Amino acid sequence: MKDLGHRPVLMEETLAYLQASRAGVYLDCTIGLGGHALEILMRNPGARIIGLDRDELSLQAAAGRLAGYKDRVKLFLIDFREVLDFQDLVPWDEVRGVLVDLGISSFQLDNPERGFSFNLEGPLDMRMDTRQKTTAEKILMTYPEARLAEVFKKYGELHHTRQLARKIATRRKLGLLKTTTDLKKLVEEVYRWVPQKNRLHPAARVFQALRIEVNQELKDLDTFLERLARQCPPGTRLVVISFHSLEDRLVKKSFQRLASGQEGQPVLNILTRKPVRPSPEEIEVNSRSHSAKLRAAERI
Ligand SMILES: C[S@@+](CC[C@H](N)C(=O)[O-])C[C@H]1O[C@@H](n2cnc3c(N)ncnc32)[C@H](O)[C@@H]1O
Repeated sequence: MKDLGHRPVLMEETLAYLQASRAGVYLDCTIGLGGHALEILMRNPGARIIGLDRDELSLQAAAGRLAGYKDRVKLFLIDFREVLDFQDLVPWDEVRGVLVDLGISSFQLDNPERGFSFNLEGPLDMRMDTRQKTTAEKILMTYPEARLAEVFKKYGELHHTRQLARKIATRRKLGLLKTTTDLKKLVEEVYRWVPQKNRLHPAARVFQALRIEVNQELKDLDTFLERLARQCPPGTRLVVISFHSLEDRLVKKSFQRLASGQEGQPVLNILTRKPVRPSPEEIEVNSRSHSAKLRAAERI
């Protein structure tokens, strides 16, 4: 199989919490390169996959990778937050498990043209859905300084965000902020970066914050999870993997609300009191997994 350079995170834990050996439909809301989906299909001949992604290139790659199982796979180019508005896409009464593996894949990160990586020279794009108009460049060029600072603080959990925003405002007037490398160099100046072992490059957080803003990654995630849980039949397993504390908090709170019965009958049993983290062995072979947190619940 062609290696597309993305290792699915928390594979065994995901399959175990999904109880993915049951026959039926598994809805993979973020199919990416189909890593988790492929494993479900290979291990369980009674499994069918409905896979969603809002990135066309990823969806094409997933289609290629899952081609050997194509009669058990349906793929849709869609933002998963909209899937409940199209009732016909998913045969809900056959659904046994739903996976939401948030963020981006290495396939996206490693393509310089997409502009997700501060280590690769490319345009300041960062869109998952390339039909969308807002790019990272547009945000950097048009947001007022205060708003930029807020984005970096909220989504990047960075300090000195006002200085960072000011520098961006100065550079953009001069037309000197066009590529990922321009932004990386600017960040290195603001944070007086000196490479050090085991220290995260400040551009990692700046790029993360911009990516979250470009793709509005946290928007309506909680509403989606709450609608999804109510839609699924009893016994459905929900598994959500997040890579950012704000994301994880939204998942945790949504699960808690649905399990508490604050608004009517409880609809979920939480299966993970604490989030499941990758083992040191997994982090060793896949450094991207280090911030992953998995939460799982079962529809009552
Ligand atoms: C971490 S990757 C998933 C990797 C996948 N589980 C695998 O094993 O290959 C996340 C994927 O979700 C997609 N994605 C993120 N947010 C999305 C959204 N709101 N709707 C649809 N797809 C989304 C991204 O484009 C990316 O391909």
